[in-house]
Amino acid sequence: MLSGKRILLIIGGGIAAYKALETIRRLRERGAAVTPVLTRAAREFVTPLSVGALAGEKVYTDLFDLTDEAEMGHIQLSRVADLVLVVPATADLMAKMAQGLAGDLASTLLLATDTPVMIVPAMNVRMWEHAATRRNLATLTGDGVRVVGPASGDMACGEFGPGRMVEPGEIVAAVESALSGGPLTGRRVLVTSGPTHEPIDPVRYIANRSSGAQGTAIAAALRDLGAEVVFVTGPAEVARPAGVEVVEVETAREMRAAALAALPADAAVFAAAVADWRVVSESGSKIKKVAGALPVLEFTENPDILAEISALTEGRPGLVVGFAAETDDVVAHATAKRARKGCDWIVANDVSPATGIMGGTENAVVLITGDGAEHWPRAAKSDVAARLAARIADTLAGL
Ligand code: C5P
Repeated sequence: MLSGKRILLIIGGGIAAYKALETIRRLRERGAAVTPVLTRAAREFVTPLSVGALAGEKVYTDLFDLTDEAEMGHIQLSRVADLVLVVPATADLMAKMAQGLAGDLASTLLLATDTPVMIVPAMNVRMWEHAATRRNLATLTGDGVRVVGPASGDMACGEFGPGRMVEPGEIVAAVESALSGGPLTGRRVLVTSGPTHEPIDPVRYIANRSSGAQGTAIAAALRDLGAEVVFVTGPAEVARPAGVEVVEVETAREMRAAALAALPADAAVFAAAVADWRVVSESGSKIKKVAGALPVLEFTENPDILAEISALTEGRPGLVVGFAAETDDVVAHATAKRARKGCDWIVANDVSPATGIMGGTENAVVLITGDGAEHWPRAAKSDVAARLAARIADTLAGL
């Protein structure tokens, strides 16, 4: 039930806006109060009159409506609700949100709010799959915005594929789950992410191409299910997720110390691409270029954080998940790695350059558990993360 809850419902300008009417009805049936806001484009699809009648409340439309400002300023309006819900979230609204634009009432409320935000995207399949929308989606999930859908199917524009807005029943279920705390409420999860940098001297280091995108998406997905997340990250390219405890590290040794300090945890996900080796003796001053004399670097092995935490007899997380980036024989190598590291699961992916996975927005993984290998279809890193987080929640519930 949603009794006592208030939803600030922002209706975007897309053909799916008609489903916002049914969503209002269902939210109210469940006991929620709905404060509706329509964008200018939304008013081309649904009228303030029908929205207001269904919500039983005043409909807000314009940023510069002085009557509204006299009654309730836009900042105050952005704070009245337990959840800000965007139905439908158009490509344009998502882009505005990702950029932090505030040119109208809806985008201003989204920028000013301090309450959780949930968006329900709906757009043409090409628009959904466009690299710009993919980037905006990654930014928004990193910022802590919850995303429901889209579904796949026939669209009003006559095309077929992902982009179709989920049905009102599903939206209301997602709102109820968001407001009641997810299945990982009360659980603590450690996530490592990003590359490590291993210094050679004060200006040079050894690194790898990990962007930190998948680890960041996993931390956000676990957070969305209610987990308390400790996110230990190396110097990664992507923005840190909101709503999690971020611990910034540089080297493998720092990452090890931070990971151990984050325990106890119910689960640990080691998505970081930790450098296998470091230079034996880091030079305290910049190594000078000397004609005809090439520097010789001597390496030593870094601590294996995943293997060490998997082997803990006391304080081992109930579920330990490692990653395997492979370029060939993915299942065989990952299965061997699971045994060697002593972890419970390995999430393996093929990172050969042709796949575009390393540094890209999509991932195709194989989950190796004690029961064998499961091939997951190629999907956005955020979808892979959501599926993994849901699986972790199910497993922890059964432990
Ligand atoms: O041995 P490899 O680097 O392929 O193993 C990858 C998995 O082990 C990842 O989960 C990674 O986070 C973890 N790892 C680690 N410490 C290391 C090396 C890898 O935790 N030194």
